[in-house]
Amino acid sequence: MRVIRVAIAGFGGVGRATANLLLARREHYRSVYDADVRLVAVCGSRAGLSDANGLEADQFDALEPGLSGPDFIGTSGADILIEAGPSDFRTGGPGLAYIHSALSSGRDTIVISKGALVHSGRELRDLAKASGAILKLSGASAAALPTIDLVEHSLTGCRVLSVEGILNATTNFLLDAMVSKGVGFDAALKEAQKGGFAEADTRNDTEGWDTACKLLLLANFGLGAELAMDDLVVEGIHGVTADRIDAWRAEGLVPKLVGSLECTDDGTISARVGVRAYPNSDPLAQVSGKNKAIRITTDAMGETIAIGCGEEPLATAAAALKDFEHILKARVA
Ligand code: HSE
Repeated sequence: MRVIRVAIAGFGGVGRATANLLLARREHYRSVYDADVRLVAVCGSRAGLSDANGLEADQFDALEPGLSGPDFIGTSGADILIEAGPSDFRTGGPGLAYIHSALSSGRDTIVISKGALVHSGRELRDLAKASGAILKLSGASAAALPTIDLVEHSLTGCRVLSVEGILNATTNFLLDAMVSKGVGFDAALKEAQKGGFAEADTRNDTEGWDTACKLLLLANFGLGAELAMDDLVVEGIHGVTADRIDAWRAEGLVPKLVGSLECTDDGTISARVGVRAYPNSDPLAQVSGKNKAIRITTDAMGETIAIGCGEEPLATAAAALKDFEHILKARVA
């Protein structure tokens, strides 16, 4: 049986959920992949290696208090890094340093935070290629909703013509509450914060940046584009007033914040984020609450629609561990 040592950088809600799910699935990894999966280190701004934050200490195979910073990956002897900390798409940090450290030493890396991948995606892809490491990012690219997986696997061989995605749970929840229940923006935002899916800085949701990050990752990692954030037109939901909602309702239309890609014959991909109003009968109009959805139109398979949600942070943890199993399949099976 092969031993697989895992380190987790970033130990907030998602990092902890990932650790717990990984540990709960150890028997599954043993029986399916003949892999003895060990969580050897965690590292976070408020949780050093000595602070397991709700995990049973004896579930760790090695705890070395005092380690911190990107070097903890090498020191812990981990084979795989799961990066679950924050990262800013304008700077890449602080997650970028951890991902960089793991990939440059040839460690397979599962990234959950979006910022580093948006900021330095090309460099990280090149680094992984050069070191032979596998880089996966399901948790970063809309988590429970399959996006890159769809174009990489389900639609393999087809040419993607366009993508429309409701990629941000918070704004879908807000718009749905405002449109279907007549709830005010501020009250709906408070609910989203209570639900734990809104960003700490909610402008990332409401101004469209979270949608833009996920869209850019799909374009760059799924469709081979080379987009930077400046290439995207990004508009949030602040223009959605009660009057506009009434006008749309009168026409049988439902507003959604949508990230869209248009792929032209010459290989150019353009991307934008903004509000689109869909007829009631459109499946995207019916995506309610904190659900997310994507419609991909291809040359040979027509339209494919996926709708996804799941409770956070479990759903994001599960998306990251989907990546983990793909790595196990590649490395162990
Ligand atoms: N704030 C995000 C959302 C979750 O509402 O979808 C993290 O991407």
